[in-house]
Amino acid sequence: MVYPLETNSNLALCQVIADRITETSQRRITFADFMDLVLYHPEHGYYSKKAVSLGKQGDFFTSVHLGADFGELLAIQFAQMWEILGRPVPFSLVEMGAGQGLLALDILHFLRERCLDFFPDLDYIIVEKSSALRQQQQQRLQGFPVRWCNIEELPSQSITGCFFSNELVDALPVHQFVLEQGQLQEIYVTTKQNLNIEFLEVIGDPSVPQLEQYFDLIDIDLKTYPDGYRSEVNLAALPWLSQVADRLQRGYLLTIDYGYSASHYYNPRRTQGTLQCYYQHRHHNNPYVNIGQQDITAHVDFTALEKWGERCGLNKVGFTQQGLFLMMLGLGDRIAALSHTKQPLSDLLHRRDALHQLADPLGLGGFGVLVQSKGLNATETQQVLKGLSVPEKI
Ligand SMILES: C[S@@+](CC[C@H](N)C(=O)[O-])C[C@H]1O[C@@H](n2cnc3c(N)ncnc32)[C@H](O)[C@@H]1O
Repeated sequence: MVYPLETNSNLALCQVIADRITETSQRRITFADFMDLVLYHPEHGYYSKKAVSLGKQGDFFTSVHLGADFGELLAIQFAQMWEILGRPVPFSLVEMGAGQGLLALDILHFLRERCLDFFPDLDYIIVEKSSALRQQQQQRLQGFPVRWCNIEELPSQSITGCFFSNELVDALPVHQFVLEQGQLQEIYVTTKQNLNIEFLEVIGDPSVPQLEQYFDLIDIDLKTYPDGYRSEVNLAALPWLSQVADRLQRGYLLTIDYGYSASHYYNPRRTQGTLQCYYQHRHHNNPYVNIGQQDITAHVDFTALEKWGERCGLNKVGFTQQGLFLMMLGLGDRIAALSHTKQPLSDLLHRRDALHQLADPLGLGGFGVLVQSKGLNATETQQVLKGLSVPEKI
């Protein structure tokens, strides 16, 4: 199929992609390279724009846009982690992919007001790829003790505390594949050779052996899948996890995102994968329109994070749904307390709606929460995290 450019596409970015394609010997780039350029090209990428359109009025919103509750409840979990680790000084909280800095603000504000003994021991670090968003974060977090760095700048084994992310892994570039005559073939992007830039997909052998090896990791036998089955693989999540594991000396990794276990993700009936594009609060599955103006995401395969984590020395502490996780941290009490508050009715209804959205199993409440740990001793390992103090589900 040929995808002509929509007028909404960033033409400078399209030219960059077309040039990149022309420079290659086979005149094609992987879909992962295409997605990386579209989202993260330092000048024209979606996340590099000065005014990235996130939030209720933007292209999409996340839990952090529903008010301070999400961050405050996470802060309660971090405070317990600090206690379990024996109140280390410093306790580092490393937020990866911090968006507009809203979550950091809610966490830091809550800890400064409510956890007077923990706050002074806190070392808050943000790892953010987009320089435009990094600037927004720096403005928003003025007055708070936060430092920014690339993950490569953190020395190996230097972190005692917790790495965490909300909707980061779904934003990493994915490879796309299709099965043809029982063989895994990769989807590449090329241009049609005419005057205008038009992108089209071509199919070829996998660009890297890791693509097929991935299915050994998650124990999925693609031989049993029908021809034409198409999906995606988030290979970038694996080196990301290795880097985090290498930097973490003692503590936790908390990953919140939408996704499934591998057997659900690669359900033979889900024949077109999970890739989604978000543009002005509408979603669709065509990444070749609105280039540079729309977000592109794919669901997260939590089994891969668990299995690769084990290879890097990260132990699974638990996996649950966001709604349950937040309930155990006090979301239910907050909902119950609404009936005793004296707020204008419209504010009350607005807040009730926000709290219910955080819990809704068909929406944000159905997101996955994976906690992994490293370097904990036997006593620390036995301590149950508040957010996970319900039967495990996957
Ligand atoms: C979907 S947004 C989520 C933002 C925020 N966590 C929230 O919940 O609203 C993804 C964020 O991850 C950042 N990001 C993407 N890849 C990254 C990487 N490899 N390292 C650090 N940040 C990254 C993006 O720039 C953006 O800030």
